[in-house]
Amino acid sequence: MSSKRLYIKTFGCQMNVHDSERISGLLREEGYRLTEKPDEADMIIVNTCNIREKSEQKAYSDLGRFAMLKRDRPGLILGMAGCVAQKDGEKVLKRYKGLDLVFGSSNIENVPQMLRTITLTARPVVMVEEPPGPPKTTPADRKDRIRAWVSIMEGCDRHCAFCVVPVTRGRERSRLSAEIVQEVSHLAEAGYKEITLLGQTVNSYGKNLDEGLDFADLLRMLDAVDGIERIRFMSPHPSDMTPKLIETMAELPKVCEFLHLPLQSGSDDVLKRMGRGYTLNEYRRTIGYFRRLVPDMAFSTDIIIGFPGESEDDFQKTLDAVAEFDYDNVYYFPYSQRPNTPAAQWEGQIPDEVKNARFARLSALEKALAREKNQRLIGGVQEVLVEDRSKRDQAKLTGRTRSNKLVHFEGPDREIGRLIPVRITSASATFLEGVGLQGAVLER
Ligand code: SAH
Ligand code: F3S
Repeated sequence: MSSKRLYIKTFGCQMNVHDSERISGLLREEGYRLTEKPDEADMIIVNTCNIREKSEQKAYSDLGRFAMLKRDRPGLILGMAGCVAQKDGEKVLKRYKGLDLVFGSSNIENVPQMLRTITLTARPVVMVEEPPGPPKTTPADRKDRIRAWVSIMEGCDRHCAFCVVPVTRGRERSRLSAEIVQEVSHLAEAGYKEITLLGQTVNSYGKNLDEGLDFADLLRMLDAVDGIERIRFMSPHPSDMTPKLIETMAELPKVCEFLHLPLQSGSDDVLKRMGRGYTLNEYRRTIGYFRRLVPDMAFSTDIIIGFPGESEDDFQKTLDAVAEFDYDNVYYFPYSQRPNTPAAQWEGQIPDEVKNARFARLSALEKALAREKNQRLIGGVQEVLVEDRSKRDQAKLTGRTRSNKLVHFEGPDREIGRLIPVRITSASATFLEGVGLQGAVLER
């Protein structure tokens, strides 16, 4: 059977990147192989994101461009997936005449069935209804050979006032633990060394299943899978960081000393209006407990700048919190008004100039912190999981430390996929350089 070609354009978070791997994994079974060139594709899918307005605009402009390709190639199948598709459903079909397929992230498992319907009826298909029961295991066409994303839950049951995810990804649904363990075991057999568990509030895993398991229990089951060397996850919600989970993370050898824990704001008043469900002090206690149990734990966070009503004093509290928690990385976003979210209608929207000025102040603080944090590592030895040759310098290998820092160092191809101790010799805000200590034994 001659293979057909599939082009996927992906916007947004890791969840979307992995969703695209699953779409392509399922379509591989239908005879499609990935191509990098939209002009030669038999099927094009735009996997969209609408967390902020810009990402949504970009997705629509790409869709418009691909719809033009159909004029010359009427056989081309054009699909839209992801969060914009979920939100706009049938409306997208009206806007783009050439579209054949519109589906939300919880309908990925139905892609082969939708494709058959299109072929049989020659009519467009829209599927944005959440299927019943836990999400099904689907094959995934993973690009990376060393590190793998594993989705363990979909949707979100929290309702942060700024966030569109509960609208676009539906209710929280956890996968069955046995299926997750099986998928991770297969990944280990295929040579994968690191897994990153994905979910919108990944640490509330299990709440909606009747298996009687929580996220800490799942981590323990996965830590026992032979061959996997490292376990990461994102993103946890601060309110679900139970003492049991913190203690389990500290105890399990494969769980890395790195945590992305979204703070959003350092002001209790803003946190309350955001509906985040924790105070700054509660967040502080979580970080403090981690640092007591795991002194070299690295943290990163998400911050929203200019949430409606954010005063200069509120923003200063955020800067203070960022400095206090001594993050290794801070991801910060100007607040974006999203349709169908409560905060979009509120008074006290912050003008762009104010958001931009605050953005610049946080950015300067973040860069100084990141550089200083990295420089503290110079002279020490870090365990690096080698991923590949460096794209910037073919003489070098590239990989990450357990604390998720990028390291470049010289070494042979055979070290790809292995854990190598590296002495750090220099550091910038975004990466480290070092010398491989091949043969040395790392103490953990
Ligand atoms: N729990 C999810 C959060 C998804 S959104 C996760 O897995 O990370 C990712 C980040 O985008 C959020 O933490 C928040 O900082 C930011 N964000 C969400 N909605 C936003 C909005 N309306 N404007 C600006 N930033 C937003
Ligand atoms: Fe969004 Fe808050 Fe859920 S940020 S994904 S509603 S925890």
